[in-house]
Amino acid sequence: MKVVFEQRDFRETPAEMMVVPCFKKEVPKWAQEALSKYGVGGDFTGEKGKTYLLPTPEMKSRRVLFIGFGREKTVELEDFRLAGAKMVRAAKALKLDGFSVWVDFNGARRHSEKDVARAVVEGAVLANLKLAPYKKKKRGEKELGKMVVFSRMDLEKEVAEAAALARAQNYARIVGVEPANFMTPKKLAETAGRLAKECGLGFRVMGKKELEKMGMHGILGVSYGSAQEPVLVELKYNAGVKGLPHIILVGKGITFDSGGISIKPSKGMDLMKYDKSGAVVMLGVMRAAAELKIPIKLTALLPATENMPGGSATKPGDILKMYNGKSVEVINTDAEGRLILADALAYGDEMGPDLMIDAATLTGAVSIVLGRHGIGMLGTDKASAHLMYDCGLECGERVWELPLWKEYSEMMKGDYADLKNIGSESGEAGTITAAAFLKEFVGKTPWVHLDIASVEWSDGSQGYFCKGPTGKGVRLITTFLKRWVLNRKRK
Ligand code: BES
Ligand code: ZN
Ligand code: ZN
Repeated sequence: MKVVFEQRDFRETPAEMMVVPCFKKEVPKWAQEALSKYGVGGDFTGEKGKTYLLPTPEMKSRRVLFIGFGREKTVELEDFRLAGAKMVRAAKALKLDGFSVWVDFNGARRHSEKDVARAVVEGAVLANLKLAPYKKKKRGEKELGKMVVFSRMDLEKEVAEAAALARAQNYARIVGVEPANFMTPKKLAETAGRLAKECGLGFRVMGKKELEKMGMHGILGVSYGSAQEPVLVELKYNAGVKGLPHIILVGKGITFDSGGISIKPSKGMDLMKYDKSGAVVMLGVMRAAAELKIPIKLTALLPATENMPGGSATKPGDILKMYNGKSVEVINTDAEGRLILADALAYGDEMGPDLMIDAATLTGAVSIVLGRHGIGMLGTDKASAHLMYDCGLECGERVWELPLWKEYSEMMKGDYADLKNIGSESGEAGTITAAAFLKEFVGKTPWVHLDIASVEWSDGSQGYFCKGPTGKGVRLITTFLKRWVLNRKRK
């Protein structure tokens, strides 16, 4: 969908459908008049969730869609994202090719026009995506071609940025929905290679042989039960530019998680194709960072493999010697994400970056803590965690921090090796002990860990996401990078 901005009064402008947001008891005069003309004057006062569609022969646009937001003081930015989705659905239902929206509230408000325009565009672009790559196209299910934002203020930059961000997230969703038989580790590497070409990123893939040479037995150990060879993908943005701060992004790329020998129950196992989401989200972040030209140096490290129970699979009790020299007793082969992340984090730490951020669908336990409404966050850098929290509120991909007290690290100590890969058979503090394990591999590098297992799959009932991967984390981490750079400049 093309998203464009025009700085002018929408009443002078022809459109297929013009959307006009209204707050409760603040329906503009001209709108009230138009509404009473059609006999619905009193009915629409801008209550939350109410919409009215009117033909408007007296205006240049063919129809107006009024959307109620409730009282202005209680409206959240997320409501504007949801409204963006509503507009898309309304336009699709009318079989239009696109729609226009008026963002202009006259004066000081709880949210600025800039933020509102951003939110509406994000919600619309995210809601416009259809995910059914292998289905014969049904008629009438087309995506919209165009969205125009109108305002008397200049919102050009905000509209373009929001569209770029949401598109990067959609890109992650499109890659994420690919099933494991197509999106093998090798294909994921090829996908990253294509992205690198498009966005001018540095690109390197380490295959099985190189991983063996380097001693990455975490990644290798997880891969042994699979017919597919593992990879470690490395992408670089602004690699050659001197004087920029450097952040490393690490993403879990398990293209399918059967659990391995500690095999998962079959119910719902099909969803484990989304166990690559961490890696896929980082691809989206790299795309967004390059498009927005964020002044920072980025390295993305994406370890990718299947976790399968083949004849050569790692067995419970096996001991792996990790990239940083620590030994790990594999008690449960289903706790595989931490094994591949550990090697990547240790490798990243060697580069001496200013910060490492990892994203992973790491534990089922995070959904027990936060349900579907938040990302679990842990780490060693208070300032970055704070900033991440703020960015979560801003972009609607909220995070909540859990503690990493030393007692949790105690739980990860092994009997026959330095570490074991699960904290307890009962699974207590599962999200935290997983992070405590990762902490053993980040060295002194400040680090933020995002457990995204709770938010990465949508059943289609929530807001602007259709059924499938949400790509959550793309807008969060990109927003974080932007603000992190700004904060650093200020210091
Ligand atoms: N990929 C799973 C975590 C997961 C669960 C992601 C549900 C998305 C939805 C991970 O590899 C896993 O299996 N974790 C285990 C760890 C346990 C064995 C300590 C879990 O959470 O049950
Ligand atoms: Zn697992
Ligand atoms: Zn997993």
